[in-house]
Amino acid sequence: METSHASQIDEARLQIEELRRQVEHHRFAYYALDKPEISDADFDVIYRQLESLEKHFPELVVPESPTQKVGAAPSTDFTSVRHRIPMLSLANAMSADDLDEWRERLERGLEVEDARQFDFVCEHKIDGLSIALTYENGNFIRGATRGNGTTGEDVSNNLRTIKEMPQKLKPIAVREDGSIALERAAGETTAMKMPALVEVRGEVYMAVDNFVTLNQSLVDANETAFANPRNAASGSLRQKDPRKTAARKVSLWTYFLYIVDDTIKQPRSQWENLQLLAALGFPVEPNRTKVTGIEGIRNFVDHWADSRHDLNYQTDGVVIKLDDRKLWDHLGNTSHSPRWAIAFKYPPEEVETTLEDIKFEVGRTGAVTPTAWLEPVKLAGTTVKRATLHNADQIARLDIRIGDTVVVRKAGEVIPEVVCVKFERRAADSQHFVYPTHCPACQTPLERVGEEVVFRCLNVYNCPAQKVRRLIHWVGKEAMNIDGVGEMLIEQMVKAQLVEKPSDFYRLTEELLLTLERMGKKSATNILAAVEASKQRPLAALLFALGIRHVGRSVAELLAERFNSMEAVQEATSEQMCAIEGVGTVIADGVIEYFAQSENQALIIELRELGVKMAVDADQQTVILPQSLAGKTFVITGTMEKLERLEAEQQIKARGGKATSSVSKKTDFVIVGANPGSKVAKAQELGIKIIDEAEFLALLEI
Ligand code: IVH
Repeated sequence: METSHASQIDEARLQIEELRRQVEHHRFAYYALDKPEISDADFDVIYRQLESLEKHFPELVVPESPTQKVGAAPSTDFTSVRHRIPMLSLANAMSADDLDEWRERLERGLEVEDARQFDFVCEHKIDGLSIALTYENGNFIRGATRGNGTTGEDVSNNLRTIKEMPQKLKPIAVREDGSIALERAAGETTAMKMPALVEVRGEVYMAVDNFVTLNQSLVDANETAFANPRNAASGSLRQKDPRKTAARKVSLWTYFLYIVDDTIKQPRSQWENLQLLAALGFPVEPNRTKVTGIEGIRNFVDHWADSRHDLNYQTDGVVIKLDDRKLWDHLGNTSHSPRWAIAFKYPPEEVETTLEDIKFEVGRTGAVTPTAWLEPVKLAGTTVKRATLHNADQIARLDIRIGDTVVVRKAGEVIPEVVCVKFERRAADSQHFVYPTHCPACQTPLERVGEEVVFRCLNVYNCPAQKVRRLIHWVGKEAMNIDGVGEMLIEQMVKAQLVEKPSDFYRLTEELLLTLERMGKKSATNILAAVEASKQRPLAALLFALGIRHVGRSVAELLAERFNSMEAVQEATSEQMCAIEGVGTVIADGVIEYFAQSENQALIIELRELGVKMAVDADQQTVILPQSLAGKTFVITGTMEKLERLEAEQQIKARGGKATSSVSKKTDFVIVGANPGSKVAKAQELGIKIIDEAEFLALLEI
């Protein structure tokens, strides 16, 4: 028995670790890169699997699990802001049953017989990104993204470009007892006041019409279009240049506020919250509705199931909040969401159409992926012509054939996918689909590597399709940012054998460019100028441009910051890379493998000779402290005199150590400040070394 339970746990641990890795990966792709790889619905499936396994094996839950954290770590481009009030997430309800379970939880939590009598506020769940706004004495002072819920990015300057966001608030009527008078009774005396501090929560989004215009202009400029309005809003809000945010027009709805002012009482309900937001001058979504009981909620949800597509903003569900704020305090929050609110998510939309063809594309890494070409069909407000088929396994599982009637789903407004085939409508003479065995671009036999599901063309350096994709990646905005060189031009250049690998861009001359069809003198000059300028791109951009597997823009940033030069990155050991928070063995292996290839080494040498900058500028180099705490794990409890906790954690990390929040067998030191918590006892129990602030400072050698 004992061993079988132990082996069950072992198996669960492996599964949990894999699910956590997937959740982290997709959260990062979604939040930090604005490039979701799977639909929201598929993400929810993975997340729920993880939640359910952790529920069965509570001993395997760790504070680092994504179920215990909100969103992704903030990216490094903006100043970090610690939220005064943490930004929580919401629990999801996917069905009427889930809503009923929530009602039962409310009844248990509030110790009432029947939550049907409670008032709820139903609001659209706007599909954008959440934002925290701070106003002091009525003046906008700061706005930040959610980030990981505790710390986000300061995007104040970009937020200032949102037309409907007030820079200055309107004063509000306050009664003598400090309560807010939203509607004044006859004869009542009130004073107009400006709250000392107002913390607002809302959603920045991109209106659907603006999104369509923006994507069209991106396509025209040979740039990558955004997958959905949410990513477009997020990408626009996180532009380094506020003028770009302004040009892209994002919008705002607000849904929460906290007043921090001794002379003014908090609003009593969510309904009053929303009224007050409007009174202060904030934009509030107009279709909010106060309803009674689960019945009322259901009516709202049903009413908007279809009509939500007529709104000029995308919604992915309904947020339901208990109206009475007193009940909020009673129920409290879990580690990542309040118990008094829930997000109802609409099921993904599905529609039938005909599969006209299956075509294959070769990606930058040689991955060959199938796309379904469909008879155009309307779905969730747009016309769908293509859908992803993911990979060969998916095609085999679906047993999909050209001419089939298929069901297509748009989940979370990401790229549509084929869900299933209507076999009963299949033509009698339909032909089994034969998956290609050779690369459509270079005819090299396709292979599956290790346990990967995707087929790859391993003709890495000579496959024309891969060459083109790599060159397209190289000129990209986040990479070398070579303006004016897009997909079509690159295809033309490759065909004319002007460019084959990235270094060839730096050998282009006006004479060579003018041999291309439709190339004018002026364009040629501009292209050469953009190529020249790209030589000065930061090291992080260059590392990203190389297209090293698993090295996205933010990992490139981490590597550049830690190693300061291309040479140092080339020489870095797996251990050194893994000491960076956010870098693990998969990434380290990718880097090492890349630089082990002689073609890549040759490319770096050529680029250097051609004048491409290969190091962080001297004045911006990070000083690397000796890694004296490498491999050591610290937990801090209580308050220290000389160091703020965050600073102490940074000092530990800068020396290669780790700072965690809970004491376990893996902890090496517990640092004890004034008024420590129960962690000291736990440390004693486990026999972990306990040190005070002075001893800690001595360890840091400061
Ligand atoms: S309330 C403490 N209301 O949905 C709970 N959130 O899945 C805070 N969202 O992070 C959220 N519309 O980005 C709330 N009317 C609304 C919303 C809304 C969209 C987003 C928000 C939140 C996420 C949770």
